[in-house]
Amino acid sequence: MYAIEAKDIVKTYSEKVTLYDFSIKIPMGTIYGLLGPNGAGKSTFIRIIDGLEKQNSGVLKIFGESPNKRLRKQLGIAPQENSFHGLLTCFENLMYYAELYGVNRGEAKQRAEDLLKRLGLGEKMHARASWLSGGMKRRLNLACGLMHKPKIIIMDEPTTGLDPVSRNQMWNVVRDIQKKEKVTIILTTHYMEEAELLCDEISFINRGHVVVTGTPEKLKEIAGKEFLRIRSRPGEYLKFIKMIQDMEGIESATISDGEILIEAKNLPSKISSVTRLLDDQGEKILDLRISKATLEDAFIKLTGSALKEDKTAHGEKKLKVTPK
Ligand SMILES: Nc1ncnc2c1ncn2[C@@H]1O[C@H](COP(=O)(O)OP(=O)(O)O)[C@@H](O)[C@H]1O
Ligand SMILES: [Mg+2]
Repeated sequence: MYAIEAKDIVKTYSEKVTLYDFSIKIPMGTIYGLLGPNGAGKSTFIRIIDGLEKQNSGVLKIFGESPNKRLRKQLGIAPQENSFHGLLTCFENLMYYAELYGVNRGEAKQRAEDLLKRLGLGEKMHARASWLSGGMKRRLNLACGLMHKPKIIIMDEPTTGLDPVSRNQMWNVVRDIQKKEKVTIILTTHYMEEAELLCDEISFINRGHVVVTGTPEKLKEIAGKEFLRIRSRPGEYLKFIKMIQDMEGIESATISDGEILIEAKNLPSKISSVTRLLDDQGEKILDLRISKATLEDAFIKLTGSALKEDKTAHGEKKLKVTPK
């Protein structure tokens, strides 16, 4: 059984097709990413899951059943636009959401305090929501959707527009929630590094359609292979190339253009043993590079378009992929 299953969903807005034969199966207990550029249709799909919009055709199932009020109570949504009240404090906002979902007051108080602490808002419990920083606001937005202990948590662009520190805090929160609450988490993003770091499985979404689904590793393979290239002096590679080939986990090692070209799964983990071998052989390393396949490369290869049309739109630099 899947947490969410959609088959051939079509959604149009006054003739404009927004989702087209949109099919997806989201396994229970995973962190699942919907990765795609702005306008791909991610939020539209979330609104259909949430019941705020109805599809024109196609079937949606939540825990294997047609959506109904009871099932939708199992959903916790942190929408793309913050949905708390700026004039209320963090605590008051959570109590308000608890009331909406029919959580009893005593239980709600405990849950609110616990959540605020876990989400790094303990000291802001009685601060007005509108006074919070951008990152805190996103975490409060998430906390509101968690008050009723949902089984499926949906986060629509949890870190868009946040600085790198706040983004990291949010990533830790997401991991903590999955670990402690044992839920299914669905998140949408157009940041490939976010999808790669957090998600067990990812679907590429483009122009209202699921292009491909897989683990981050599988999807990166679409982009091509990763190579480690090393140039060293005196460069007597023939003497020891066989030794590199025989190292554990190395798929191939060749000499090309005066460099050693190495192919392996999880290349970064092989660097130290390869460099040690070169050192033992009396080689001095002049240059060492990994040509890394990224999710962005895979996305471009499959769709012909980039995840972010304008990388400087938020004044941000292209982030490097942080190793796990
Ligand atoms: N209520 C609406 N009326 C008309 N067009 C809409 C509406 N909501 C979304 N769209 C359009 O549907 C497309 C997908 O939007 P959206 O689901 O918000 O994409 P994403 O969340 O991936 O950025 C966009 O072209 C958007 O303009
Ligand atoms: Mg959106």
